[in-house]
Amino acid sequence: MATGSHFNTDLTGRIALVTGGTKGIGKAIAEELSSAGATVIVSARSKPTDGNPAHHFIAADLTSPQDVSALTNEINGTYGGLDILVNNAGGLTTPGGGHSTLTDQHWESELQLNLISAIRIDRALLPGIIEKRGVIIHISSVAGRQALWNLNMAYAVSKAALNSYSKALATELAGKGVRVLTVAPGATKTPPMEKFIVDYATAQNIPEDEALAQLLMQTGGIPMGRMAEPSEVASLVHYLVSPAAGYLTGSIYAIDGGSLPVVS
Ligand SMILES: NC(=O)c1ccc[n+]([C@@H]2O[C@H](COP(=O)([O-])OP(=O)(O)OC[C@H]3O[C@@H](n4cnc5c(N)ncnc54)[C@H](OP(=O)(O)O)[C@@H]3O)[C@@H](O)[C@H]2O)c1
Repeated sequence: MATGSHFNTDLTGRIALVTGGTKGIGKAIAEELSSAGATVIVSARSKPTDGNPAHHFIAADLTSPQDVSALTNEINGTYGGLDILVNNAGGLTTPGGGHSTLTDQHWESELQLNLISAIRIDRALLPGIIEKRGVIIHISSVAGRQALWNLNMAYAVSKAALNSYSKALATELAGKGVRVLTVAPGATKTPPMEKFIVDYATAQNIPEDEALAQLLMQTGGIPMGRMAEPSEVASLVHYLVSPAAGYLTGSIYAIDGGSLPVVS
């Protein structure tokens, strides 16, 4: 006898923060969550001119502890707690070339942006998230499992640490009804990825399509033969934060067209 579907992905009434929700993957996640009914807050350093007016924008540089305090105080004061926190802001900001090109400053800035900022935001918002039995997503990268020494060493290390932190936090909070999950995209068609390809092509003095082919070859290629669309990552995040995923916590979800050459 049919009992009806329990696949509930409705987010009506939920309050969500998407850091870096103004561009690329974060923008797609913010749009996806609001389409599912959530009230969405987005943060970034600069307010976009073409931002969604329905989203509550809060300016903050997440590498600054003062800005993180102001952001989290405003959210706690206005909303009294979050149901959904997507720590998405991050990126590869340091040069390739391996260990000798990376200074202390490079290591510190990459760790601040990709690891410490999420830890700081989680800590400040967790009392309200625990009260609402909410869910936290950390946007990592396949690089966190497969570092490419000549391309992304410090970035990969910061994302590997984020994976480990996310797992530990999930275990700590499972008994309080808070779920914590990690999403690890592979190459995704966003402005920084496009710039990365152009910069690599310029540095190697080769055309962009050859640069893309070379970069993909260094990661073992993408079996599906294309990069992800930001909306595809957003669909996964939507599912993970929804009631349909209520028994999922502590796991990492690679979304990479099959590119990670390991069992995930
Ligand atoms: N694109 C990929 O191929 C790919 C692959 C794997 C993982 N990822 C991960 O996915 C996440 C999003 O990447 P994306 O490619 O979508 O990046 P993106 O298009 O550059 O967007 C980054 C967002 O974060 C904000 N941001 C950047 N630095 C910030 C800072 N210091 N403080 C506050 N906000 C900041 C940006 O706005 P402002 O510039 O105005 O601050 C923007 O809204 C990152 O964590 C990245 O590591 C991306």
